[in-house]
Amino acid sequence: MSGVNVAILGVTGLVGQKILEILEERNFPVANLTALATQGQGRTVKFRGEEIPVLSVESMDWSSVNVAFFAASKEASRIYAPKAIAQGVTVVDKSSYFRMDPTVPLVVPEVNGNAAGDARLIASPNCSTIQMVVALEPIRRHYGLKRVIVSTYQAVSGTGREAMQTLTWESEDCLNHKTVIPSTYPTPIAFNVLPYCDTFGEGDYTGEELKLTRETQKIFDEKLPVSATAVRVPVYIAHAESVYLETEKPFDVALVRDLLAHSPGLRVVDDPSQGKVPVPLDASGQDLVLVGRLRRDLFVENGLHIFVVADNLRKGAATNAVQIVESLLSRWT
Ligand SMILES: NC(=O)c1ccc[n+]([C@@H]2O[C@H](COP(=O)([O-])OP(=O)(O)OC[C@H]3O[C@@H](n4cnc5c(N)ncnc54)[C@H](OP(=O)(O)O)[C@@H]3O)[C@@H](O)[C@H]2O)c1
Repeated sequence: MSGVNVAILGVTGLVGQKILEILEERNFPVANLTALATQGQGRTVKFRGEEIPVLSVESMDWSSVNVAFFAASKEASRIYAPKAIAQGVTVVDKSSYFRMDPTVPLVVPEVNGNAAGDARLIASPNCSTIQMVVALEPIRRHYGLKRVIVSTYQAVSGTGREAMQTLTWESEDCLNHKTVIPSTYPTPIAFNVLPYCDTFGEGDYTGEELKLTRETQKIFDEKLPVSATAVRVPVYIAHAESVYLETEKPFDVALVRDLLAHSPGLRVVDDPSQGKVPVPLDASGQDLVLVGRLRRDLFVENGLHIFVVADNLRKGAATNAVQIVESLLSRWT
């Protein structure tokens, strides 16, 4: 295929905008781009120096599209993905709607790229799942995994464009000694830490926590115990995760460090004596998952602590989706 007709649903959102940027950066062979959101409203998006009109998804005729990135709401995916697929489109969905459907592959190219097969609908995992499985996969392959416990420190951009503005406005109000009226979250996020990222559900776990558990199990092993606590912090971009894991086989920390350093999609940043640790400001704006703070657990024989940080809008969302399509293209041609 010489060029691909691409549609992006949710093109005006944080992830949609990032997909546009990444398609340009990676010289993805776009022949024609269709930009979709709820309404056009005379809006345009910029792609390769051109202003592309934003169209309403409601009246979309999908028949000329080859590949669609869905980066809107769960509801939009539920309604429009079947319509697009019925007209021959291959859909990569960033929403959570299809992720746990057993007939839909949930794909992170560095981990289970082959799972995509020749599916017409492929789900891309939650941002916090993606970075964790990229960091865990080499350890899982070499030493086996017995259990995982993760606590996240998640940036506000994970909630979408409105949350970025909320953090700015609330911070300004705090600094100007004004009363902060929460909007995006039930509690102010500026200068605060919220021990939830989503609504509470089964067993008082939040949706985000259950996504981390179930998506990781779907990718690795349905029986792997994965326990999660997801926390929102006042950071604009890049999620951090403190991950505790137990391996089946004994390991040497230096060898694990070396293994991670030579694994795809990862950069080891682990020299605390030189102040080298993975942090959101360094992870932001690039595609690698940063991993560091490797420590053997003091009490459990095969227990290891690692700290994992990645740009939630890039590897956690847009880059992962574009990589999925790139690997499909290499098979189609
Ligand atoms: N942010 C992240 O870090 C991240 C990471 C992984 C996955 N995701 C997922 O990616 C998706 C987009 O997230 P985001 O952060 O980019 O959100 P966002 O900034 O709030 O943008 C949402 C986009 O979706 C469009 N949209 C919403 N409802 C729609 C509908 N019913 N029909 C058509 N378009 C609709 C909006 O269009 P209008 O401009 O017309 O309102 C906008 O373009 C979500 O499913 C989210 O869960 C996000």
